[in-house]
Amino acid sequence: MNQGSSKDLETLEIEALKAIESATDAPALEAVRIGVLGKKGSLKDVLRNLGSLPVEDRPAFGARANVVKKKVEAALSEAKERLSGASPKSRKNKRGLSADVTLPGSEVHRGSRHPVQLVSSRMIRIFGNLGFEVADGPEVEDEWHNFTGLNIPVDHIARDPAENFYLQDDLLMRSQTSTVQVRVMEGTPPPFRIIAPGKVFRPDTVDATHSYMFHQLEGLVVDEGITFGHLKATLLDFFQQLLQDEGMKLRLRPSFFPFTEPSAEVDLFWRDGWMEMGGCGMVDPNVLESVGIDSERWTGFAFGLGIERVAMASYNIPDIRYFTDNDVRFLQQFS
Ligand code: DAH
Repeated sequence: MNQGSSKDLETLEIEALKAIESATDAPALEAVRIGVLGKKGSLKDVLRNLGSLPVEDRPAFGARANVVKKKVEAALSEAKERLSGASPKSRKNKRGLSADVTLPGSEVHRGSRHPVQLVSSRMIRIFGNLGFEVADGPEVEDEWHNFTGLNIPVDHIARDPAENFYLQDDLLMRSQTSTVQVRVMEGTPPPFRIIAPGKVFRPDTVDATHSYMFHQLEGLVVDEGITFGHLKATLLDFFQQLLQDEGMKLRLRPSFFPFTEPSAEVDLFWRDGWMEMGGCGMVDPNVLESVGIDSERWTGFAFGLGIERVAMASYNIPDIRYFTDNDVRFLQQFS
């Protein structure tokens, strides 16, 4: 068959204009443009056979091809305007519609909030109802706020360079959100009740329960007459509101932290076992005094909860690595 006939040009024109008219978005339109006018497009295809025409027919065919090309180009630019909504007049096609409404709609992919952010927001809301305000601090910290101000002596194992991400002398990625305790106490006269959610960093070997980065939510209350009873009641109230389950139990297991005295581990019993959620205690008088707060008048309690731990307990997630694997099948479950 002789492809370089004017019949081919006619078909090409009709089909191209039809395709342009029914393109519903810019990528579809661009695909039509490439399919017709592109290097390997249908117009080039037809022109390629020009040589097989009788010599006397060639000029007329060439001229006709040019007209088709111009028409297609004009239709493309009109369609482009219609799709971008630039001109309200040209937005409508002959039937007065902006597109073929019988075509299936294009699917909108909705994201969902990350489970760590979801749980963090819930924790903030609950503590907010208990009268806590949110405080913030930097992720790059100095040794004073990460250690010294928290009564952690220079030779303490927690300060070992192998246990921390040091950036330079006296500057490290914070290893705990307790840093914000010091920052708040330095800048705010008591009484106050704050929480500080955020990222912390430690060079831990990654496994099902450890990561080099995770989130903590720090809490600090300083007021007159604060006791260990207030601490326990606050944590119990928090976990009851979070899990809304009578079968939940809270255990404060004696422990040691340099910045609290006495100190305890916060253990949660839920579903089928005990889980460690963080640490807590009464603010050590040394900490209060080092930021100029009179420890004879003011007492306080503090706690630090692992947000991933709370998320893992709430949603029954077995492995902390899921949070950073970026697998949408995991992430989509939390909307
Ligand atoms: N900062 C501690 C850690 O990262 C957790 C902690 C323990 C925070 C006791 C506190 C506290 O506020 O009182 O292991």
